[in-house]
Amino acid sequence: MIVGEAPGFNEDRQGEPFVGAAGKLLDTLLARISLSRADVYITNVLKCRPPMNRDPMPNEVESCSPYLKEQLALVKPKVVLILGRHALERLMPGQGSISRIHGSLIKRGELAYVPLYHPAAALHNGSLVADLEHDFDQLRRYLDQLLAPPPPPVPVPVPKQESEQLRLL
Ligand code: URA
Repeated sequence: MIVGEAPGFNEDRQGEPFVGAAGKLLDTLLARISLSRADVYITNVLKCRPPMNRDPMPNEVESCSPYLKEQLALVKPKVVLILGRHALERLMPGQGSISRIHGSLIKRGELAYVPLYHPAAALHNGSLVADLEHDFDQLRRYLDQLLAPPPPPVPVPVPKQESEQLRLL
């Protein structure tokens, strides 16, 4: 599951998250690690576009919070990618700045979180693209470990006497 900040102009018109320029970069990053939109559930902290794309206000984050909680409960993701500081503050309050923890795997019970720079930030500051690429490569390795199928069960040898008895039963 991927959690961004809020719909922008294009998302607001189309009713879908990440369909604008930031979404194109997100698609490229997903493709880099052999994932597509069909493999992920994408949503935002805010469900409506803030006027002029300003930062979400605390009361807006609070109002939308039950929807995000319900989405998490329904989707039951194993891994949540947190895009940008607003999603980080919502999902992992007090965890620190995105510039410090981006690309790390943070486990909370059954859930694993991976905070990443927001792709829109990389559109403004090109030097963040390399960080995102590096973090997505790292993400591929996390996913390979976290989503690997469990090893087949080791057969337990039945003691001879018991197997003899079972056969006779
Ligand atoms: N930025 C976001 O955080 N979400 C979107 O859906 C689009 C841009």
